Order: sequence, then structure tokens, then C-alpha cells
Amino acid sequence: MAAKINSAYPSVDDLRTKAKKRIPKFAFEYLDGGCNEDVSISRNTSDIRKVQLQPRYLRNYGTSSTQTKVLGMEFDAPFGIAPVGLQGLMWPNSPEILAKAAYAHNIPFILSTVTTMSIERASEITEGKAWFQLYNPVEDALRDDIIKRAEAAQCPVLVLLCDVPTFGYRPRDIRNGLALPPKMSLTNILQILGKPTWAMNTLKYGQPTFETLKPYTPEGLNLKQLGQFMDKTFSGRLNEEKIKPIRDKWKGKLVLKGVASEQDTQDAIRMGFDGIILSNHGGRQLDAAESTIHSLHDIAPKYGDQIEIMMDSGMRSGPDIARTMASGAKFTFMGRSFMYGVGALGNAGGDHTITMLKTQFKQVMDQLCCERVEDLPQHIIKKQ
Ligand SMILES: Cc1cc2nc3c(=O)[nH]c(=O)nc-3n(C[C@H](O)[C@H](O)[C@H](O)COP(=O)(O)O)c2cc1C
Repeated sequence: MAAKINSAYPSVDDLRTKAKKRIPKFAFEYLDGGCNEDVSISRNTSDIRKVQLQPRYLRNYGTSSTQTKVLGMEFDAPFGIAPVGLQGLMWPNSPEILAKAAYAHNIPFILSTVTTMSIERASEITEGKAWFQLYNPVEDALRDDIIKRAEAAQCPVLVLLCDVPTFGYRPRDIRNGLALPPKMSLTNILQILGKPTWAMNTLKYGQPTFETLKPYTPEGLNLKQLGQFMDKTFSGRLNEEKIKPIRDKWKGKLVLKGVASEQDTQDAIRMGFDGIILSNHGGRQLDAAESTIHSLHDIAPKYGDQIEIMMDSGMRSGPDIARTMASGAKFTFMGRSFMYGVGALGNAGGDHTITMLKTQFKQVMDQLCCERVEDLPQHIIKKQ
């Protein structure tokens, strides 16, 4: 796909600024915030940016390629779109926009259990390439049915989430009345009226709902009842007993998302996961969390040959992706950056953000004189 970047928005920061102007405050703050005092969200990015890379200008250098292999699949870049819940609330139709762009660029799109597009629609858009993130249901029958649907939709990868044993404490969402269950106050309605493009698109695409969960959700629930239903239906607490039947049933690749310790990495290897995503949920759950790049520096050298180690949380640019790949990740994911892109540019936002990040990442590889993504670790400066 030809590179076509909207020159008014050459960075994620530019997209964020524009998105903030177009999304109602309660929805933007849900997307943008971390938790508690926002320590973890800023530490993620600042620690990634401590990583320094060394170029090799005098080596015999051809051209660099951003092609990357992970879990036996080949992608056009070493980054994908992380699962984000409630996407349609932040920008109407945003999961469709992002899934289409990911498919066109041959990068992975992970669909959240609690977003506003169904597994079946994600599969249709991506011709069976979308990955699916599973919140573990309390009932075995519900779990088995969702897994069956993901299998029927030909999802190549099931991503089991382990880092939400409880909801994060997010002061903005509490103030805005968006902490689950979400509620529509007069203030929120006034905020909507101030964002006409968002409001018109919401009218066009309809009130966002949890599409994948529709068959299991009793009809006619108000938002509060829906929140209670979700609480009852899913349990974020995982252990070996709950994971074993999932591993036994799922024939595709199985990935554990939210790993933040060596012990959980060892358990994931023992329980037969194909990969892990080191992640602290973008700093939205535990404000005292270790930055993910810090975890990666410890975990990748010890376990990188036993399990595929991927990472998310904190990347906002091509250099950030390069720093993370150089630190030993096999692949990276980003959540907010793509949502800022769609919030800023609507239908063009997915394509723009992917193209921009790819252009930035390729520039770093060319500058380092690094031909292959897997050679990036050779460029890391260790004395930091
Ligand atoms: C608004 C929002 C909603 C999210 N919802 C989910 C979700 O439903 N499931 C999930 O596995 N992760 C969810 N995440 C976490 C992301 O998958 C990812 O770990 C995180 O966004 C990465 O950090 P970054 O935003 O700094 O790139 C969410 C993140 C955000 C910002």
C-alpha cells in the first residue's frame, strides 16, 4: 500500500490533540487515562525512551525490510492493534475502520470480547485473520460457546487476558460516571452536543453495544443492569484449572496477555501457551506496576527461546517500536495510538496511523543500517 500520510498529523501526539477536540470528554478520558495518579501510564513510555540504539554506518548495507514473523505468521510490520473494549463509544464504527486498515496493511487486529463489533464481523472483514481476546467467562458453557464461535470464524490466535482480576481505579471515569456500569448524565449529554461529528456518526451507526455478547445478553437491560450482567458473567481471575480446558479445546495459537512477572511467564510456558504479551494494560490497572519494557529486559533473555514474547503498553512511535524490538520482543501491540488516529481522522484514521508508524519505524531501521527486524537486538546499547 502506497504511503499517504496526512501531513497535518505526522505524530501520535498530533492525532491525540485532534482526537481530544472531536470526542466527548467522558469518552476521550476513558481512552486516554491510566489509573489512580497516572504513574504507570507515563512510566511505560518514559522507560521505553531510555533505550538507546547504535547505528552501523560503515557496514555493507542493502535495504531494510519491516517484514516480521511471529507465531508462525508473516506480517508487514512488527506491530499490531491491541484489543480495546467499547471502541464504538470512543469513535462510532471504529473497530470496523481499524480491522479494515489492519487487513489492508497485513498486520494483526485483536478483537476485544467487550468491544462493539462481533467475532463474526471481524472475521468477515479480515478474511479470518482477526485474533480474538477472551475475557474468561464464569460459566463453562458460555466459555465453550465463545471458543466455538472464534474457531468457526477461523481466528488464528486466541488471546486470553489475565491482568483484570478487578476493575482498575480510574478517577476520571468515576467523575464522569463511566466507571462500570456506564451512565449517561446531563453533563455527558451536553458534552456530546459539543462534538457534532461524533454525534452524527453515532446516529448513523447506532448506539454501540457489546456485539459478540449479544446472544447471551438478556434483552431490554439498561446500562446499569448491563454492567451488573457483565460483572456476573466474566471473572478476570485465572488459574491452571481454568486455563487447562481452554488449552485443550483451542486448536489454534494460544497467547496469554497481561503477563508482568517471571513466575507467570514460567507458568505460561508450563501450561502450553504459544506466546505471551507482556503488558500492564497500558497503565490502566496497577499504578504501582513495573514498566513493561523493564519486565521485557528481564524476561526476554531468559525465556525468549521457550515462548514467543510480545509486548504492549507505552509505545507511541516508530522509534518506540524499534526500542522494544531491540530489547527482545518478537512483536509489539498498541492500543491508544490507533484509537487517537480514528478519533482524529475518522475513516482515514486506521490507514493513516499504520502508514505513519510504518514510515517512522522504517526510517529508524534505515538509519541504524539494520536490514532485518530480527537483527534489531544487535543495535541496543547495553551500558545504560
Ligand atoms: C480504552 C481502552 C480499553 C481497553 N480494553 C481492553 C480490553 O477490552 N481487552 C484487553 O485485553 N485489553 C484492553 N485494553 C488494553 C490494551 O489492549 C493494551 O494493553 C494497551 O492499550 C496498551 O497500551 P497503550 O495504549 O499504551 O498502547 C484497553 C486499553 C484501552 C486504552
